[in-house]
Amino acid sequence: MRALREALGQFATGVAVITTATPGGERAGVTVNSFTSVSLDPPLVLWCLSGQAPSTPVFLRAGRFAVNVLAAGQDHLSRRFATPSSDKFAGVKTYLTSTGLPMLTGTLASFACRTVTTYEGGDHRIFIGEVEHFQRSGGEPLVFHSGRYREFSAAGRADRSAVCAPLTP
Ligand SMILES: Cc1cc2nc3c(=O)[nH]c(=O)nc-3n(C[C@H](O)[C@H](O)[C@H](O)COP(=O)(O)O)c2cc1C
Repeated sequence: MRALREALGQFATGVAVITTATPGGERAGVTVNSFTSVSLDPPLVLWCLSGQAPSTPVFLRAGRFAVNVLAAGQDHLSRRFATPSSDKFAGVKTYLTSTGLPMLTGTLASFACRTVTTYEGGDHRIFIGEVEHFQRSGGEPLVFHSGRYREFSAAGRADRSAVCAPLTP
């Protein structure tokens, strides 16, 4: 299991915080690196959540979710939403979409989605959502590779090569 996890960790990804809120005002947010695009027409995305995660029932009840793509320097938000807590949103700057989804500020891009279907995938649940609204700010991404946060360095930007610098795990 650990060897498989370490081999899978060689696939470098971005980091996103998936947020939601139910009509009753219950909020949930989780850090994921399983986010990916599925289809452009219709515009579909997916992400996977552990069936054991306390937030799974909240996402299922809400029927909507927002994808917040983290920027370089937002690893504190990644840690915050990857740590179980009764109020992960305390002290975190957010705003609400027209559909009532809490969005994080200062991200690279965000996608407000309606859950169209979910599938059981082993010990995880796969959420597929249709993008209803999105926005893009641009900037440098937070990168996750081999269990560590990384950022593209300025040296890498100069010659367009992807030089990565490790951050504190
Ligand atoms: C970089 C990173 C990526 C993660 N990706 C996922 C993921 O794709 N799916 C998942 O279920 N958990 C993932 N996790 C773990 C969850 O963020 C963590 O279990 C979180 O506490 C779940 O939220 P909950 O306890 O409020 O349900 C990831 C953690 C980190 C740090």
